[in-house]
Amino acid sequence: MEDPKLRSERRLLLTLMGTSLGFATLSALLVARDLVPRASKSPEKLPPQVGDLLVYATGHQEGAPITPAQLPLGGPFVLAYPMDPKTKVVRSGDPKNTLLVIRLDPAGLAPEVAKYAVGGVLVYSAVCTHLGCIVSLWHPAQGVAQCPCHGGEYNLAQDKVVSGPPPRPLPLLPVRAGQGGLEVAGPFNGPVGVQAG
Ligand code: FES
Repeated sequence: MEDPKLRSERRLLLTLMGTSLGFATLSALLVARDLVPRASKSPEKLPPQVGDLLVYATGHQEGAPITPAQLPLGGPFVLAYPMDPKTKVVRSGDPKNTLLVIRLDPAGLAPEVAKYAVGGVLVYSAVCTHLGCIVSLWHPAQGVAQCPCHGGEYNLAQDKVVSGPPPRPLPLLPVRAGQGGLEVAGPFNGPVGVQAG
Protein backbone atom coordinates (compact mmCIF):
# COMPACT_ATOMS: atom_id res chain seq x y z
CA MET A 1 0.00 0.00 0.00
CA GLU A 2 1.28 3.44 -0.96
CA ASP A 3 2.60 5.77 1.70
CA PRO A 4 -0.04 8.54 2.20
CA LYS A 5 2.74 11.17 2.36
CA LEU A 6 4.13 9.99 -1.00
CA ARG A 7 0.63 10.01 -2.51
CA SER A 8 0.01 13.56 -1.33
CA GLU A 9 3.38 14.76 -2.71
CA ARG A 10 2.67 13.17 -6.06
CA ARG A 11 -0.77 14.82 -6.19
CA LEU A 12 0.81 18.20 -5.43
CA LEU A 13 3.41 17.67 -8.17
CA LEU A 14 0.71 16.80 -10.72
CA THR A 15 -1.29 19.87 -9.72
CA LEU A 16 1.75 22.14 -10.14
CA MET A 17 2.53 20.60 -13.51
CA GLY A 18 -1.06 21.14 -14.62
CA THR A 19 -1.00 24.76 -13.48
CA SER A 20 2.30 25.43 -15.26
CA LEU A 21 0.96 23.85 -18.42
CA GLY A 22 -2.14 26.03 -18.16
CA PHE A 23 -0.09 29.22 -17.82
CA ALA A 24 2.20 28.17 -20.66
CA THR A 25 -0.78 27.51 -22.92
CA LEU A 26 -2.37 30.82 -21.99
CA SER A 27 0.89 32.71 -22.62
CA ALA A 28 1.27 31.01 -26.00
CA LEU A 29 -2.28 31.97 -26.91
CA LEU A 30 -1.72 35.60 -25.89
CA VAL A 31 1.51 35.81 -27.87
CA ALA A 32 -0.19 34.25 -30.89
CA ARG A 33 -3.06 36.71 -30.59
CA ASP A 34 -0.62 39.63 -30.64
CA LEU A 35 1.06 38.22 -33.76
CA VAL A 36 -2.20 38.15 -35.72
CA PRO A 37 -2.61 41.48 -37.55
CA ARG A 38 -5.65 43.33 -36.25
CA ALA A 39 -8.15 44.74 -38.72
CA SER A 40 -7.22 48.41 -39.10
CA LYS A 41 -9.77 51.15 -39.58
CA SER A 42 -10.57 51.97 -43.18
CA PRO A 43 -9.32 55.43 -44.24
CA GLU A 44 -12.79 56.98 -44.37
CA LYS A 45 -13.32 56.01 -40.72
CA LEU A 46 -10.00 57.24 -39.36
CA PRO A 47 -10.18 60.31 -37.13
CA PRO A 48 -8.82 63.58 -38.56
CA GLN A 49 -5.14 63.24 -39.42
CA VAL A 50 -2.55 66.02 -39.36
CA GLY A 51 -2.41 67.52 -42.88
CA ASP A 52 -5.98 66.51 -43.79
CA LEU A 53 -7.86 69.15 -45.77
CA LEU A 54 -11.26 70.27 -44.53
CA VAL A 55 -14.02 69.89 -47.13
CA TYR A 56 -17.69 70.87 -47.13
CA ALA A 57 -19.87 68.07 -45.77
CA THR A 58 -23.11 69.29 -47.34
CA GLY A 59 -24.55 71.71 -49.89
CA HIS A 60 -23.61 72.51 -53.45
CA GLN A 61 -19.92 72.69 -52.52
CA GLU A 62 -19.92 69.25 -50.87
CA GLY A 63 -16.46 67.69 -51.11
CA ALA A 64 -14.72 70.98 -52.02
CA PRO A 65 -11.92 72.30 -49.79
CA ILE A 66 -12.85 75.14 -47.43
CA THR A 67 -10.78 78.32 -47.50
CA PRO A 68 -10.98 80.95 -44.72
CA ALA A 69 -12.07 83.68 -47.17
CA GLN A 70 -15.22 81.70 -48.03
CA LEU A 71 -16.43 81.78 -44.44
CA PRO A 72 -18.57 84.77 -43.45
CA LEU A 73 -17.10 86.64 -40.50
CA GLY A 74 -19.24 86.05 -37.41
CA GLY A 75 -20.96 82.95 -38.74
CA PRO A 76 -22.91 80.96 -39.62
CA PHE A 77 -20.69 77.89 -39.41
CA VAL A 78 -20.41 75.21 -42.05
CA LEU A 79 -20.26 71.46 -41.50
CA ALA A 80 -17.13 69.74 -42.77
CA TYR A 81 -15.21 66.47 -42.99
CA PRO A 82 -11.47 65.87 -43.08
CA MET A 83 -10.11 64.60 -46.39
CA ASP A 84 -6.81 62.88 -47.13
CA PRO A 85 -5.18 65.32 -49.60
CA LYS A 86 -3.26 62.54 -51.37
CA THR A 87 -5.94 59.90 -51.86
CA LYS A 88 -8.90 62.34 -51.77
CA VAL A 89 -10.65 59.97 -49.35
CA VAL A 90 -13.21 61.96 -47.37
CA ARG A 91 -13.38 60.65 -43.80
CA SER A 92 -17.16 60.63 -43.66
CA GLY A 93 -17.39 56.98 -42.59
CA ASP A 94 -17.60 57.85 -38.91
CA PRO A 95 -20.16 60.44 -37.70
CA LYS A 96 -17.61 61.45 -35.07
CA ASN A 97 -15.60 63.05 -37.88
CA THR A 98 -18.29 65.66 -38.51
CA LEU A 99 -16.77 69.08 -37.93
CA LEU A 100 -18.12 72.55 -37.43
CA VAL A 101 -16.07 75.37 -39.02
CA ILE A 102 -16.66 79.04 -38.23
CA ARG A 103 -14.82 82.36 -38.68
CA LEU A 104 -15.10 84.73 -35.75
CA ASP A 105 -13.47 88.03 -34.84
CA PRO A 106 -10.07 87.00 -33.43
CA ALA A 107 -10.33 89.84 -30.87
CA GLY A 108 -13.41 88.18 -29.37
CA LEU A 109 -11.87 84.76 -28.80
CA ALA A 110 -10.95 83.55 -25.34
CA PRO A 111 -7.14 83.06 -25.15
CA GLU A 112 -7.47 79.32 -24.60
CA VAL A 113 -9.63 79.15 -27.76
CA ALA A 114 -7.49 81.49 -29.90
CA LYS A 115 -4.52 79.15 -29.79
CA TYR A 116 -6.49 76.60 -31.85
CA ALA A 117 -7.57 79.14 -34.50
CA VAL A 118 -6.05 80.56 -37.67
CA GLY A 119 -7.24 84.02 -38.70
CA GLY A 120 -10.26 83.62 -36.43
CA VAL A 121 -11.26 80.30 -38.02
CA LEU A 122 -12.19 77.67 -35.45
CA VAL A 123 -12.87 73.99 -36.02
CA TYR A 124 -14.93 72.07 -33.48
CA SER A 125 -16.30 68.57 -33.32
CA ALA A 126 -19.96 68.91 -34.36
CA VAL A 127 -20.97 65.95 -32.18
CA CYS A 128 -23.03 67.08 -29.21
CA THR A 129 -21.53 65.99 -25.90
CA HIS A 130 -24.99 65.21 -24.50
CA LEU A 131 -26.29 62.32 -26.61
CA GLY A 132 -24.30 62.66 -29.81
CA CYS A 133 -26.60 64.55 -32.19
CA ILE A 134 -24.95 66.79 -34.76
CA VAL A 135 -24.92 70.44 -33.67
CA SER A 136 -26.42 72.06 -36.74
CA LEU A 137 -28.24 75.27 -35.78
CA TRP A 138 -26.81 78.79 -35.54
CA HIS A 139 -28.35 81.71 -33.69
CA PRO A 140 -26.65 84.87 -34.97
CA ALA A 141 -28.27 87.19 -32.41
CA GLN A 142 -26.87 85.24 -29.47
CA GLY A 143 -23.80 84.01 -31.35
CA VAL A 144 -24.38 80.44 -30.24
CA ALA A 145 -24.50 77.06 -31.96
CA GLN A 146 -27.43 74.87 -30.93
CA CYS A 147 -28.08 71.14 -30.92
CA PRO A 148 -31.48 70.34 -32.46
CA CYS A 149 -32.15 67.33 -30.20
CA HIS A 150 -32.51 68.86 -26.73
CA GLY A 151 -31.57 72.49 -27.29
CA GLY A 152 -28.04 72.41 -25.88
CA GLU A 153 -26.25 75.67 -26.75
CA TYR A 154 -22.54 76.28 -27.20
CA ASN A 155 -20.67 79.60 -27.23
CA LEU A 156 -17.97 78.99 -29.83
CA ALA A 157 -15.84 82.06 -29.06
CA GLN A 158 -15.48 81.00 -25.44
CA ASP A 159 -15.78 77.20 -25.91
CA LYS A 160 -18.49 76.98 -23.25
CA VAL A 161 -21.88 75.36 -22.82
CA VAL A 162 -24.31 78.22 -22.21
CA SER A 163 -27.61 76.36 -22.01
CA GLY A 164 -29.19 72.90 -21.99
CA PRO A 165 -28.01 69.44 -21.00
CA PRO A 166 -24.54 69.03 -22.63
CA PRO A 167 -22.13 68.13 -19.82
CA ARG A 168 -19.05 69.70 -21.43
CA PRO A 169 -18.02 71.97 -24.33
CA LEU A 170 -17.30 70.73 -27.84
CA PRO A 171 -13.67 69.71 -28.35
CA LEU A 172 -11.55 71.93 -30.60
CA LEU A 173 -9.44 70.69 -33.50
CA PRO A 174 -6.29 72.76 -34.17
CA VAL A 175 -6.24 74.13 -37.70
CA ARG A 176 -3.76 75.88 -39.99
CA ALA A 177 -3.87 77.51 -43.41
CA GLY A 178 -2.38 75.34 -46.14
CA GLN A 179 -1.96 75.84 -49.85
CA GLY A 180 -5.10 73.89 -50.67
CA GLY A 181 -7.25 75.34 -47.88
CA LEU A 182 -7.74 74.72 -44.17
CA GLU A 183 -5.67 71.86 -42.78
CA VAL A 184 -5.80 69.82 -39.60
CA ALA A 185 -2.84 70.74 -37.40
CA GLY A 186 -3.24 68.24 -34.56
CA PRO A 187 -5.65 66.04 -32.60
CA PHE A 188 -8.81 67.19 -30.79
CA ASN A 189 -8.15 68.84 -27.46
CA GLY A 190 -10.61 66.49 -25.74
CA PRO A 191 -12.80 63.43 -26.25
CA VAL A 192 -15.38 63.60 -29.04
CA GLY A 193 -19.08 62.99 -28.41
CA VAL A 194 -20.72 61.17 -25.53
CA GLN A 195 -18.50 59.94 -22.72
CA ALA A 196 -19.58 57.29 -20.23
CA GLY A 197 -19.91 58.55 -16.70
S1 FES B 1 -28.04 65.47 -27.92
FE1 FES B 1 -27.53 67.56 -28.03
S2 FES B 1 -28.62 68.49 -26.44
FE2 FES B 1 -29.13 66.39 -26.29
